[in-house]
Amino acid sequence: MINDKKIIFSGIQPSGNLTIGNYLGALKNFSEYIDNYKCFYCIVDEHAITVRQVPADLRRRSYEMMALYMACGLDPTNENVTLYVQSHVPAHAELAWILNCFTGFGELSRMTQFKDKSAKHADNINAGLFTYPALMAADILLYQTDIVPVGIDQKQHVELTRDIANRFNQLYPDTFTIPEPVMKKTGAKIMSLADPTKKMSKSDENQNAVVYILDDKDTIIRKFKRAVTDSDTCVRVAEGKDGINNLISIYSCFTGKTDEEIEREFEGRGYGDFKLAVGEACADALAPVQAEFKRIMSDKAQLEQFMKNGADEAAYYARKTLSKVRRKLGFVQI
Ligand code: TRP
Repeated sequence: MINDKKIIFSGIQPSGNLTIGNYLGALKNFSEYIDNYKCFYCIVDEHAITVRQVPADLRRRSYEMMALYMACGLDPTNENVTLYVQSHVPAHAELAWILNCFTGFGELSRMTQFKDKSAKHADNINAGLFTYPALMAADILLYQTDIVPVGIDQKQHVELTRDIANRFNQLYPDTFTIPEPVMKKTGAKIMSLADPTKKMSKSDENQNAVVYILDDKDTIIRKFKRAVTDSDTCVRVAEGKDGINNLISIYSCFTGKTDEEIEREFEGRGYGDFKLAVGEACADALAPVQAEFKRIMSDKAQLEQFMKNGADEAAYYARKTLSKVRRKLGFVQI
């Protein structure tokens, strides 16, 4: 607990332009917690380097991520909100090493993200990619986190974090709080517009498969128009209609309407009408975020100041947990 509040931690990698999947599955929901929880939202640049990054892009995206967090309603001057960059707080890397020693080779081998990423980057299957979940566990456990809002694809990593924490606590009682993953029912997994059986991914090479948070209105509408659907014409949720199911779920996330309301709204109208409506709802919802993002990005000195303050605050709490861990392990305190 911090200031009598339970603790939330989540992180996003600055490794690509963020998509509406990131927005609906994570970012948009982050602000819902700020009145009732102490929230740490991290830009996980150390996770990003498990695959090769262009340095200038990584740097720019880290700033952009910070601005996007703020544009999505996370005010760094609010005492419940801490926004910062992972590499600014050395405790993450330090605890990650320690947790590596409490994580099984077999456990890491079973992580689906590792299997996917090592297939995708077969020329660079490095140890960091493999031990990625130990760093993620360090992120979460450093802050004595109660709740971790994540997309469904990260659930397995949070479960491993719980296993690591329980194992550590068994050997060294009362060290870590055991975190709980929370996922949104819809919006937890937005699928690709080109292949709706695949997750929408910011690293997809097909630009039409992905809608980015910062895409302009025309681009958004064009991408939805081209979205792959099926030969049916009726806007209805159904088994096997992956494309339409995905569009209904996106429309529902942006408008707050239920599936039944959406089916009624588009009764007797074709896919064309529906796709246009999805595009417009998406563009309208993103417009204020984009305007705020532009405003924040125009004052880099201010943005950097917020990053510094966030890192100082995060480091204060992280250090407390790390010293406890070091003491329990038997490292000499000097
Ligand atoms: N692994 C997460 C992802 O790729 C990012 C992440 C890193 C994270 N550390 C975290 C998410 C801690 C939640 C909590 O999306």
